[in-house]
Amino acid sequence: MALPALLLPLLLAAAASAAGDGCRSGCDLALASFLIARNQNLTYIAELFAIRDYRSLGPYNPQYPNLDFIPADATVNVSFPCGCRSLPREPAATYLAGSFPYLVRSGETYDSIAAHFSNLTTAAWLAATNTYPATNIPDTGVTVNVTVNCSCGDPGVSKDYGLFLTYPLRDGQTLAAVAANYSFSADLLRKYNPGMDTNTSGLVFVPVKGQHFYLLLCDPNCGQFSSILGF
Ligand SMILES: *[C@@H]1O[C@H](CO)[C@@H](O)[C@H](O)[C@H]1NC(C)=O
Ligand SMILES: *[C@@H]1O[C@H](CO)[C@@H](O)[C@H](O)[C@H]1NC(C)=O
Ligand SMILES: *[C@@H]1O[C@H](CO)[C@@H](O)[C@H](O)[C@H]1NC(C)=O
Ligand SMILES: *[C@@H]1O[C@H](CO)[C@@H](O)[C@H](O)[C@H]1NC(C)=O
Ligand SMILES: *[C@@H]1O[C@H](CO)[C@@H](O)[C@H](O)[C@H]1NC(C)=O
Ligand SMILES: *[C@@H]1O[C@H](CO)[C@@H](O)[C@H](O)[C@H]1NC(C)=O
Ligand SMILES: *[C@@H]1O[C@H](CO)[C@@H](O)[C@H](O)[C@H]1NC(C)=O
Repeated sequence: MALPALLLPLLLAAAASAAGDGCRSGCDLALASFLIARNQNLTYIAELFAIRDYRSLGPYNPQYPNLDFIPADATVNVSFPCGCRSLPREPAATYLAGSFPYLVRSGETYDSIAAHFSNLTTAAWLAATNTYPATNIPDTGVTVNVTVNCSCGDPGVSKDYGLFLTYPLRDGQTLAAVAANYSFSADLLRKYNPGMDTNTSGLVFVPVKGQHFYLLLCDPNCGQFSSILGF
């Protein structure tokens, strides 16, 4: 199905820039590659990302015909809105990320919280994006914002991609290995991920090709999806 012309401005205009270069606006949708740990299941992962029903992840995981039977140690694509946010202590510094409320339990640290998120965030990044100092997270009933970086694309690189997968390099992987695995041009992937050429850890942003994917349009507060369009 052809993408209705109406939607194109929505996809492209939102494509501010990669995380870190500052942003003016976000985009409705980004994906994150989540490696499921032994003690996790999809219900739990959906909760982490404030997704009401894990079954809504079906369209982003065409490899799994049935989301109720996913082995541990598998990766699952999680969807989230990618917003333009600013650092609490430096409001002019903007970045693109999803932000998910996490209810802190007694004794937790940014390290232990980040550990639930499959290397999609780090303790240092949680400390930078929350008002509580790392050494002084209140123990009772507070939430911290778990921040997962994302990209809406970069018209300066290519106007063809508006949906990106946040992918944590795993087991010493490089950008080139990720490009090969997703059958994507390594050159283009480098352009979307400046400074990550030889890195073997950290996040990379992988453009997602259209044909198997769906655009979920959310209502203004992204609480509920109002329509689904395949493209
Ligand atoms: C997220 O992006 C910001 C801005 O580019 C960067 O400083 C931070 O290290 C990134 N966080 C992670 C976990 O990669
Ligand atoms: C998923 O994990 C939660 C604990 O995190 C558990 O309560 C729930 O029963 C599990 N669900 C399934 C279907 O295994
Ligand atoms: C997750 O998305 C990527 C990028 O589009 C795709 O290659 C991969 O097959 C998807 N994973 C699953 C489990 O379907
Ligand atoms: C996260 O990264 C660490 C260090 O690279 C690695 O040991 C661990 O297995 C990774 N965890 C996940 C869930 O990818
Ligand atoms: C989490 O984000 C909200 C909305 O941006 C903000 O009001 C709140 O102060 C943040 N919480 C922390 C602990 O930084
Ligand atoms: C390749 O991509 C698939 C689909 O996302 C993923 O399940 C697999 O772990 C990846 N393998 C490597 C070596 O990156
Ligand atoms: C890549 O690794 C280098 C060396 O460890 C580090 O200085 C740089 O910040 C990393 N790049 C990104 C984008 O994280």
